[in-house]
Amino acid sequence: MTAKISIVGAGMTGSTTAHWLAEREIADLVLVDIVEGMPQGKALDLLEALPVIGRDVAVVGSNDFSATKGSEIVIITAGIPRKPGMSREDLLTTNAKIVGEATTSALKYSPDALFIILTNPLDTMAYLAMKTGKLPRERIVGQAGILDSARMRAFVALETGVSVENIACYVLGGHGDEMVPLTGRSNIAGIPLREYLPPDKLEAIVTRTRKGGGEIVSLLKTGSAYYAPAVAVAQMAEAILKDKHLIVPASAFLMGEYGLKDLFFGVPVQLGRNGMEKIVEYRLDADEMTALEKSAAAVKESITVLNSLVKI
Ligand code: APR
Repeated sequence: MTAKISIVGAGMTGSTTAHWLAEREIADLVLVDIVEGMPQGKALDLLEALPVIGRDVAVVGSNDFSATKGSEIVIITAGIPRKPGMSREDLLTTNAKIVGEATTSALKYSPDALFIILTNPLDTMAYLAMKTGKLPRERIVGQAGILDSARMRAFVALETGVSVENIACYVLGGHGDEMVPLTGRSNIAGIPLREYLPPDKLEAIVTRTRKGGGEIVSLLKTGSAYYAPAVAVAQMAEAILKDKHLIVPASAFLMGEYGLKDLFFGVPVQLGRNGMEKIVEYRLDADEMTALEKSAAAVKESITVLNSLVKI
């Protein structure tokens, strides 16, 4: 394998990302964590699974960033997850320190890497990593939109009994409870959701999507979701390495798109070998734009808190 992907944070999301990526057989993998022995153990376990599914991928675990040297992609999942009753914003103080340090350490060994951020609060952590690493915006994206859209697709499938393959949903905005599921664009095999489902059912799906992460936190009690966030990251990494020019909802740094600037925000982006190639701008109606502005205000508030905590 010629490509190399490093995953910082070998906890639930990090190790599950490695799992989904190994199945895709697109790059050798490095897991880094501060807990002694843990990334090594998980890497070895995953490596030993690969003969069964016939994948030739090198998987290495380490407590030292030198193992990440020469990575094409660095994925940051290090940090604490939510516990019941916590918002993603409650993680900010702790995770800012971890993500800032992880970015600096990773860049030391892979100065040209592309970054995918998963640690929450997502949009703020992506902003911090970009500023800390002085990265051009093409080289850094945050994962949230594929996950939020997949949650909505899953709920629509549960409600309608239609295959998830026929269901296209688009969730934009910040990765918080103010996210914006675009019901006017989401559809089942081309039929707009608004025509397919009665308003009360659609509204229930929108609400459940917005609170989808919290629903899992309150069930798990000790942590947050990992299968779906991790597979979403794997899809982004694959789109980049295979230069697919895939358009997915993801958190990108805005410079005037959608009338917004100086924040990471969930928008449709095109991913290819050079990273974030393009931001796609939908023509939104007034209600959609109002909802996006409300969501952007929440992300801006989080950045203000970040700026009061760390100098970047
Ligand atoms: N460098 C490397 N790893 C670190 C560091 C660091 N400086 N600090 C913490 N970690 C590791 C922890 O040791 C732990 O193994 O990050 C890992 C996080 O794993 P989990 O606790 O299992 O959390 P996880 O569910 O993976 O969530 C991590 O991703 O989705 C987001 O909201 C979630 O912010 C959270 C993050």
